[in-house]
Amino acid sequence: MTTFRIAPSILSADFARLGEEVRNVVSAGADIIHFDVMDNHYVPNLTIGPLVCQAIRPHVDVPIDVHLMVKPVDRIIPDFAKAGANIITFHPEASEHIDRSLQLIRDHGCKAGLVFNPATPLSYLEHVMDKIDMILIMSVNPGFGGQSFIPQALKKIAEARRLIDESGRDILLEVDGGIKIDNIAAAAAAGADTFVAGSAIFGQPDYKAVIDAMRANLAK
Ligand code: DX5
Ligand code: ZN
Repeated sequence: MTTFRIAPSILSADFARLGEEVRNVVSAGADIIHFDVMDNHYVPNLTIGPLVCQAIRPHVDVPIDVHLMVKPVDRIIPDFAKAGANIITFHPEASEHIDRSLQLIRDHGCKAGLVFNPATPLSYLEHVMDKIDMILIMSVNPGFGGQSFIPQALKKIAEARRLIDESGRDILLEVDGGIKIDNIAAAAAAGADTFVAGSAIFGQPDYKAVIDAMRANLAK
């Protein structure tokens, strides 16, 4: 049986109360904290860095999943590892040397993954599958929370699932962007096992009600 994981994106949290927000969302049932790093260069938005990761680390005992939307990639990796990140993913187009970046993440004791924008082909995986612990399929173009799910992502999730199954490796298949209570089951049916949700969770007063409803739809 598949283990499903809910990964709230703190991009939609109240940054003035971030410690409380991450504690609350973990008590509400979050399995992973999704941490969106944007640099106003690779994507047209600017968010948070290693200092904030380090600040929330003592507040939660679940893995912190750092989604790097930055270019260049490599020089920030050691800082996030030191700040307590457990999983670090990056966009292959943003790295000059994808294999090196993946190895760098692993050498720093973190799990490593690649992120695929709606128009990025999965062929980037071909020669690095042995260094991959997570595949992240973007179901929006990266840069902002609160966008609508792009349905073409379902086909790509299914394709990634097939590659994972063929590899025989233990790789998380995460989907990010526009995930809500009413479309999470479709993403799971396509093969995803880890679900990022920002606005769907932090946009509601009762985080547990949203996470419970998501899990109920995953169990159907
Ligand atoms: C977008 C980010 C997402 C985003 C998800 O670039 O990578 O993680 O915060 O937010 P929602 O769930 O609101 O689409
Ligand atoms: Zn993200």
